[in-house]
Amino acid sequence: MCGIVGVVGNTNATDILIQGLEKLEYRGYDSAGIFVLGGAENHLVKAVGRIAELSAKTAGVEGTTGIGHTRWATHGKPTEDNAHPHRSETERFVLVHNGVIENYLEIKEEYLAGHHFKGQTDTEIAVHLIGKFAEEDGLSVLEAFKKALHIIRGSYAFALVDSQDPEVIYVAKNKSPLLIGLGDGYNMVCSDAMAMIRETNQYMEIHDQELVIVKADSVEVQDYDGNRRERASYTAELDLSDIGKGTYPYYMLKEIDEQPTVMRKLINTYSDENQQMVVDPEIVKAVQEADRIYIIAAGTSYNAGYASKTMLEELTDTPVELGIASEWGYAMPLLSKKPMFILLSQSGETADSRQVLVKANEMGIPSLTVTNVSGSTLSREATYTMLLHAGPEIAVASTKAYTGQVATLAFLAKAVGEANGNEKAKKFDLVRELSIVAQSIESTLSEKELIEEKVRGLLETTRNAFYIGRGQDYYVVMEASLKLKEISYIQCEGFAAGELKHGTISLIEDGTPVIALISDNPTVASHTRGNISEVVARGANALTIVEEGIEKEGDDIIINKVHPYLSSISMVIPTQLIAYYASLHRGLDVDKPRNLAKAVTVE
Ligand code: M6R
Repeated sequence: MCGIVGVVGNTNATDILIQGLEKLEYRGYDSAGIFVLGGAENHLVKAVGRIAELSAKTAGVEGTTGIGHTRWATHGKPTEDNAHPHRSETERFVLVHNGVIENYLEIKEEYLAGHHFKGQTDTEIAVHLIGKFAEEDGLSVLEAFKKALHIIRGSYAFALVDSQDPEVIYVAKNKSPLLIGLGDGYNMVCSDAMAMIRETNQYMEIHDQELVIVKADSVEVQDYDGNRRERASYTAELDLSDIGKGTYPYYMLKEIDEQPTVMRKLINTYSDENQQMVVDPEIVKAVQEADRIYIIAAGTSYNAGYASKTMLEELTDTPVELGIASEWGYAMPLLSKKPMFILLSQSGETADSRQVLVKANEMGIPSLTVTNVSGSTLSREATYTMLLHAGPEIAVASTKAYTGQVATLAFLAKAVGEANGNEKAKKFDLVRELSIVAQSIESTLSEKELIEEKVRGLLETTRNAFYIGRGQDYYVVMEASLKLKEISYIQCEGFAAGELKHGTISLIEDGTPVIALISDNPTVASHTRGNISEVVARGANALTIVEEGIEKEGDDIIINKVHPYLSSISMVIPTQLIAYYASLHRGLDVDKPRNLAKAVTVE
């Protein structure tokens, strides 16, 4: 949440900051700002709303150095006063911040009596604290920053400048992501590599509780006691074209369309020309040794964990338990004797999941992060990593990451199952089955017009809706309803179809949309059909999404049959399109739904 950029030693500083913020807008988009120095004068520019509003105010803003921020509000409303950058009491020091300072009120009370604050943010208190140590107590900028870092508790990525010194940006991080980008004759800081990929593919990691002094021609990493740390750079494998929308109106539609390619990429990554699994033997061994697999995740990734549970259990002969990351970080249940944690996370930066990983590491539990972002925090801190190879996912609504997660876990399940001698795993021809899934997705994608038409009639004006399904379809409706509510603002719940009659059916009235998913199992299907009749009898407007082979006359959307372990991939595709068209026809910003951000880096 929130995006940070900074550049030192480049005469195009304003342009680099604005372009970087545009790339980071997915992290938060309620207000933004930049501070630029090193030109004829210093400039602080802020705007409520999107980066375009900020950009429109930057004519004539020139300098060689600057810091910028796009905000997802945590403390105080999205106003210009609360937008970053924030300044110290005398306005000499200027700070941008991503994260949450837990003890900001104590700091204000203990150190900042008599200070005047423009807004309500924790960040403003942090920069006042640094300013106090430097100007009232006479410390150097570096010493003042270090002293403040020893006092501040919580999560943060900070970029600080002294308005009297355009030669340096001071940065520090704890729990929130921040990278150094290495330019030719200048250097940068950014929340993720995408923000600076136009300028460089050379990056340097910063670890928690490190401070970095970034100048145009040098980067010095220290701990908070001033001890220097060596850090090598690495090359980010990102292509500028990966992060464009091309001719698509929204990233979400592009990312939905990319899913067959993601499936084929995963086949090429995790199997060889003889269709043998190519999964790190160390990972296979670690899972083999576990007596229980714990999947820890949030949101869509959590739903992908559920969608993979049966497959993992049946192929690895190991029970699988799901944990909501934001709960487990503080209330870890009783674990088995030999647990293995799998952290599922598109971004690899989700603070809730990281909190669980920190605990798991303290307890010596082996962990595997399954993520789309190589070098992300969860990837770095887990014992092992498997990548989704889905390419950057930019729409806030996650689509290709969900299907990529289920497919990646299928390779893991099969590799472990084969190593265990599991008969089902040996017979499961994953390469072939996933190719069939890719074709099934393509077939559904060719039905966009039909799906759009159905959505017009069903979801254009409704305030609420239900998804129902049984078995594997139940896991998919959890995801389908999250997707719909997230971007269309329709209040939607996903229910196990048989549960409706135990309470929720009282909500059904004339015209209530109920979307039912029915795949594979004819007995289960007939029960779900019974539940559809029950809601229709009470006035519901039903739409059915049914796998071929068990369809009936009057069904609305037919999905090509795939292996039951992988039906959560093929069955989720029409629900992604339903959410997309519902949002589009309600006139909403599909890619940037209100109140949300792509990477949730606060707990
Ligand atoms: O990056 P992660 O997969 O860890 O993110 C977890 C959730 O925040 C994320 O899946 C969220 O629910 C999506 N916006 C849903 O589309």
